[in-house]
Amino acid sequence: MSSAALHFDLLVRNGRCILPWGEAQTDIGIRDGVIVTLSAPASATAEQVLDASGLHVLPGLTDPHVHLRDPGNASVETIETGTRGAVLGGLTAVYDMPNTSPSIIDAETVQWKQGHIGQTAWCDMGFYVGATKANIQDLATLEHQPGVCAVKVFAGSSTGDLLVEDDASIEAVMRSGHRRIAFHSEDEYRLQERRPSFSSGMPYVNHMIWRDEECAFLGTRRIMALARKTGRPAHILHTSTAEEFEYLKDFRDVATSEVLVNHLTQIAPECYETLGGYAVMNPPLRDRRHYEAAWKAVNDGLVDTIGSDHAPHPREAKERPWPDCAAGLTGVQTLLPVMLDHVSAGRLSLTRLVDLLAAGPARVYGAIGKGRLAVGYDGDLTLVDMGRQQRIEASWLVSPCGWSPFEGRLCQGWPVATVLRGHVAMRDGALQGEATGRLISFLP
Ligand code: DOR
Repeated sequence: MSSAALHFDLLVRNGRCILPWGEAQTDIGIRDGVIVTLSAPASATAEQVLDASGLHVLPGLTDPHVHLRDPGNASVETIETGTRGAVLGGLTAVYDMPNTSPSIIDAETVQWKQGHIGQTAWCDMGFYVGATKANIQDLATLEHQPGVCAVKVFAGSSTGDLLVEDDASIEAVMRSGHRRIAFHSEDEYRLQERRPSFSSGMPYVNHMIWRDEECAFLGTRRIMALARKTGRPAHILHTSTAEEFEYLKDFRDVATSEVLVNHLTQIAPECYETLGGYAVMNPPLRDRRHYEAAWKAVNDGLVDTIGSDHAPHPREAKERPWPDCAAGLTGVQTLLPVMLDHVSAGRLSLTRLVDLLAAGPARVYGAIGKGRLAVGYDGDLTLVDMGRQQRIEASWLVSPCGWSPFEGRLCQGWPVATVLRGHVAMRDGALQGEATGRLISFLP
């Protein structure tokens, strides 16, 4: 090898690397933003060397489910603040939801989002285009625009006004375009039918009684029937019930699924008693039976991605009595520490976590050059210290909304560096340089 071939922009030495083939102690070389070797020799040199002794080196991790509220409400979040939190929390990419104000549903809003990401994001980004009954014909074109990871369908109503609830319209969405569609799967008719049985000011736990298992399960059965009928691949976001995990086993040919860190961590009814409105989200936090089913599905290989569903709201909106309190919990910055703590507790392996947070999102949405420590892939790395114990403190959180349902939680395992295409964006809890995030390319 010539000496030029042995010189890199960044060398990461002595780390335990989670490669696609397993764990190995090796040295990674990055040049021009791309991984060029997984076995740099001792004689190699670099502009910058990171010593990863005692650390694990993971492929850059992705949160495929965030609501960064941009455009919309800068007092709770923006792309700039949300991606800053992502990088501090050890993530190199996020995929942003379309229920902003205005929503991302047409060429004009897609273009705005593309430009804004290029100017303000600290990590790489994909984003979803929202389906409406009025834009169905345009979705086949919109899903191919740069940076678009998927069309998102709210089949049940949540924050914002995006909603496509009836079978005929959902089928028409599935017949417009061909890439995998991401679904918020709760049956809108059942939600509306059950709503009058509940009154204002009832305890927050009623959130999970109103939006019960059957709301989610019925929604998923309807979507699976249409996916089979049309052959269009579907991704069930935030799968939350034992019934859905069991049912989806028979639909692996047409469906992938996501589970949220919240459904793997918070258990009802205790979460509603301790957190009140700060436990309210859609689909709801549920009881231990569903929590255990979610972990079983993760470990049986039936789940493809883990997300945070980071959904900031003002404190005042979270503290309103049920059901007027806003639904949604923050989590982009805490996703990895909380999941590393689950690894330390023996609930899943680090290799499985990497599959769910790196290779999984890339595979589900077709992200090019992302999700693996392999030659030719982007030089995105997340360095974690599994020996480090750290508490999630309010002072560490950057989201302007100012709260986290995980505040005070002690985590065993912590991200200590984030490398974005060869640039060290975070080290030891401090951001480095400037916002250099880009749009991710997805398979056509
Ligand atoms: O709890 C939720 N909040 N679920 C969603 O589907 C949307 C999100 C939000 O945007 O607030």
